Amino acid sequence: MTASLIDGNALAKRVRAEVAGRTEALRARGIQPHLAVILVGEDPASQVYVKHKVADSEQTGLKATLERYPAAMQEGELLARIRALNEDKGVHGILVQLPLPKHMDTHKVIETISPAKDVDGFHVASAGALMVGQPGFWPCTPYGCLKMLDSIGYDLKGKHAVVIGRSNIVGKPMALMLLGRDATVTICHSRTMDLKAMTLQADVVVAAVGRRNVLTRDMVKPGAVVIDVGMNRNDEGKLCGDVDFEGVKEVAGWITPVPGGVGPMTRAMLLVNTIEAAERTSA
Ligand code: GUN
Repeated sequence: MTASLIDGNALAKRVRAEVAGRTEALRARGIQPHLAVILVGEDPASQVYVKHKVADSEQTGLKATLERYPAAMQEGELLARIRALNEDKGVHGILVQLPLPKHMDTHKVIETISPAKDVDGFHVASAGALMVGQPGFWPCTPYGCLKMLDSIGYDLKGKHAVVIGRSNIVGKPMALMLLGRDATVTICHSRTMDLKAMTLQADVVVAAVGRRNVLTRDMVKPGAVVIDVGMNRNDEGKLCGDVDFEGVKEVAGWITPVPGGVGPMTRAMLLVNTIEAAERTSA
């Protein structure tokens, strides 16, 4: 058996088109959805990420403003800038690119963003809202994974979903989203004693560890859906995920590729959260 691909690029394109339509509708009412992106320091990967976020926004008609600050910026200055953006009615979403310079308290910075503008979904109020099923912003990566499952018409009700990874921005929120769809959810992590015993039972596996070959073909139930959140480099320097794609695709029913899978969906879901933020404040 060879798995069908869940094409993240194609789905992201559809999501962006939908966001563009919603943006146009707001603009017709005189509202310009606006995302403020803050980058502190010179981290090379972060510079690439923010460039993409701004370009994606502009491509869908959203206004994006990139504010760049030197690594030596004082935390107090950053907090003051975030508070000003919280008050600015013309700004609907605020994203502070991570990682921040070491002298800053990341938690304090994120908690300063108004939950109403927390389009990354990293604020504790956003995490709490997801947990209790109240409206709030969902972190973009797990939200994108859920959309990918929806795109193949997968009904999660009663299914066993195994999430590998327990980070605050992927594993834990992913588990809550799956639970919200009535899946039976198991969270596995580096201390899990027999990972294979868990994944062999799974109808859906989400791999979000950040290490190559965490999931190999002997660990997958035939026909399972495999979502690969990993972004790693192999020995030749090529981008690869957490899943041994070549092996697993022979047993899985559906699989996401890396690149071209979850990555483009993460980017697309930031646009969804931003248009949502603008719509909520102008309803
Ligand atoms: N750094 C790496 N990924 C992300 C992300 O999704 N959001 C923010 N703010 N910083 C990041």
